[in-house]
Amino acid sequence: MRIIVTGAAGFVGSHLAERLVALGHEVVGIDRFTDYYSRAVKERNLVRLRDEARFSLVEEDLARADLAPLVEGAEVIFHQAAQPGVRASWGQTFGAYLHDNVLATQRLLEAVKSVRGTPVRRVVYASSSSVYGDIDELPMRESSATKPFSPYGVTKLAAEHLCELYRMNHGIPTTSLRYFTVYGPRQRPDMAFHRFISAARRGESIPLYGDGEQTRDFTFVADAVDANLLAMDSAEGGVFNIGGGSRVTVNEVLATLGEVLGPLRIERHERQLGDVRHTWADASRARTVLGFAPKVTLAEGLRAEAAWLSEAEKLG
Ligand code: NAD
Ligand code: UGA
Repeated sequence: MRIIVTGAAGFVGSHLAERLVALGHEVVGIDRFTDYYSRAVKERNLVRLRDEARFSLVEEDLARADLAPLVEGAEVIFHQAAQPGVRASWGQTFGAYLHDNVLATQRLLEAVKSVRGTPVRRVVYASSSSVYGDIDELPMRESSATKPFSPYGVTKLAAEHLCELYRMNHGIPTTSLRYFTVYGPRQRPDMAFHRFISAARRGESIPLYGDGEQTRDFTFVADAVDANLLAMDSAEGGVFNIGGGSRVTVNEVLATLGEVLGPLRIERHERQLGDVRHTWADASRARTVLGFAPKVTLAEGLRAEAAWLSEAEKLG
């Protein structure tokens, strides 16, 4: 099968592309190497894929490229590309969030709409728990209110709406997977676990935002990849929560990390604007409709991320 993975040089996209290639698919990655974090890191994400004959990478901006020829002949599209990051989405940077999250998604959906040959069988969009915001209803259900609490969340929800309305108006078979804080090897350098483990390994203090009693339903990256594969094979689209089933406080994460890495020095900072207090996925729709069942425990996943960071540091 010919499959497109947008954002293939990123954290989730590179894992997904690797899995698809291993399953025998021909994968075309599209990535514009945004400067949110360094190109060198993204090139390392691609090292294994670059050796695969069934993988090719197109370096283009989804919001600007002529996507129609790329999309023609693709059976499935996994749309992972975005400007991520909750706390960085205020102020001047918002232009990038609009461009890479909203405009890029609309351009991609227009290209899918224009396909003349065999229509695309499924478009899977990487949505986010950030669409819910700081709501009281826990666990979060797909039917819960969506009140984003960060500018990032607003753009992720806008793109999800675009997927839904192209589904309803143009019959494009879209699925939106609302990932809940994904972690594991290749996690982005701005994210909590990456920062915590790197700081601890260097003997530096760990930046803790707020009182540490906020919770996240942390999801290991291989489980998020599983969800994508299940969504590809399901006849049913729409919106699904994808949570790892490991909902803990940040303080509990730090305690677990302390057991693995030794005593940690914590440096307290103000709670950050845009950060929600709690996330917690009710993933029952994904379980019953897609057969999704997260497999990796937080302790296993943290060890895997720590082992990867240790290897990455050796490579420089
Ligand atoms: P990432 O930044 O590692 O990967 C995204 C990739 O998209 C980058 O390599 C970037 O260069 C590329 N990109 C951005 N804009 C582009 C454009 N206009 N054209 C082409 N390429 C472009 O991010 P990630 O953590 O792997 O996140 C993947 C997806 O999952 C994103 O859509 C993100 O919003 C969503 N998500 C991530 C998490 C998480 O915890 N990591 C949680 C919820 C949702
Ligand atoms: C993550 C991703 O970064 C978003 O792209 C994604 O959309 C979102 O998950 C989601 O689930 O939708 P976030 O939950 O903020 O966002 O993920 P982390 O960066 O891992 O932060 C987790 C918690 O640790 C937050 O409460 C944050 O305030 C805290 N944190 C983060 C710290 O205390 N210190 C840090 O240095 C970084």
